[in-house]
Amino acid sequence: MFISNDRAFDLIEKYGSPLYVYDENILRERCREIRNLLPNKNYRVNYSAKANSNLELLKIVLSEDIDVDAMSPGEIFVEQEAGFPKERILYIGNNVSADEMTYAIERGVLVSVDSLSQLELFGKINRGGRVAVRFNAGVGAGHHEKVVTAGKKTKFGVQKDFIGHVKELIQKYDLKLVGINQHIGSLFLDGDKYIDGVKNLLEIAHEFRGLDFIDMGGGFGVPYKEDEHRLDLAELSRKLDAVFSAFIEKYDNKNIMFKSEPGRYIVAECGMLLGEVYSVKENYGIKYVGTDLGFNVLARPVMYDSYHQIRVAQKKASSGGNEKATIVGNICESGDIIAKDRVLPPIGEGDIIAVMNAGAYGFSMSSNYNCRLKPAEVLISSDGKDRLIRRRDSFEDIMRNFV
Ligand SMILES: Cc1ncc(COP(=O)(O)O)c(C=O)c1O
Repeated sequence: MFISNDRAFDLIEKYGSPLYVYDENILRERCREIRNLLPNKNYRVNYSAKANSNLELLKIVLSEDIDVDAMSPGEIFVEQEAGFPKERILYIGNNVSADEMTYAIERGVLVSVDSLSQLELFGKINRGGRVAVRFNAGVGAGHHEKVVTAGKKTKFGVQKDFIGHVKELIQKYDLKLVGINQHIGSLFLDGDKYIDGVKNLLEIAHEFRGLDFIDMGGGFGVPYKEDEHRLDLAELSRKLDAVFSAFIEKYDNKNIMFKSEPGRYIVAECGMLLGEVYSVKENYGIKYVGTDLGFNVLARPVMYDSYHQIRVAQKKASSGGNEKATIVGNICESGDIIAKDRVLPPIGEGDIIAVMNAGAYGFSMSSNYNCRLKPAEVLISSDGKDRLIRRRDSFEDIMRNFV
């Protein structure tokens, strides 16, 4: 925990529960680590804002000289509000409408298309324009089948067998292919599959002359479980550097830019989620700890069976030893479980539960299910002070769009 137990209570008293809390120092540290991944190459990072699109966090990422990608016009909008200039945004569209594509084009944001039909649509809307293509180079990897985003069983990217068709469409609409990208999936702690994916992508790159950039995707993992090791960035750096050096030797544009687009690695560890315990009960031998941490607040455990470490801030220090408990939320579904069968200090009403590494795909996947309010977000700045960076939803927010 990057805050003390006492501070957890203070923050909940000041801002209410549940509450996302972020640490600026950790966020900046992760930005710098990933930005310095390839010091000897022409290399830039696109932060994948889908992981967390809080305006203030985006401003910090911008100040760390990192670019962004966007998965929707909404993300482009927020990123521009945060101050990202158009040249520093890549719109990675997936099955987007003509209106959405036009939105990006009119704002001067580069679009990456991920099918032949979307390339055709782009050509019709923006003949002669600059475009990128997302390929599916056949290698996929991820912590759950729902987050594997390349390989034979996903909807993403253009299969490499269709390179000829890509070339035809580029010619037909007089387009300039400036870059190619991919994303093999999310959360790897061992870089070998990633390197395989990059090698395949580089083979595709050789089919196109004069590319400005190759974007190898994100997916860099963080250790969620107690016994998981950190991703060895130094080793990944060495291997990638060697692969890129070999590529450049044979490629016509020696100044080609290599890009990565991590989301999780940048924001996961700087965020934790705090919630209050309102009831404790035993049902048929299982101890249930009832909190306000429903899956409307953090969807990952329900969506992907994800594991988050749990810390307990006790209101009154207990003398008993650890015991097994299942932490549940307040949503009317029996799948509403945030942590199952965990061995934890005895938990009572009024205690605070801290869910660790909740900065990525936490708030950004939260919802108003059960007409619950999305939580507030607070930042602990580098000077140690806390401030609200997104207020909690109100009932008015829930009513706003009814006509
Ligand atoms: C195209 C694309 N880029 C980047 C990311 C970011 O992935 P991660 O947060 O695992 O780094 C994703 C996530 O699925 C993605 O689909």
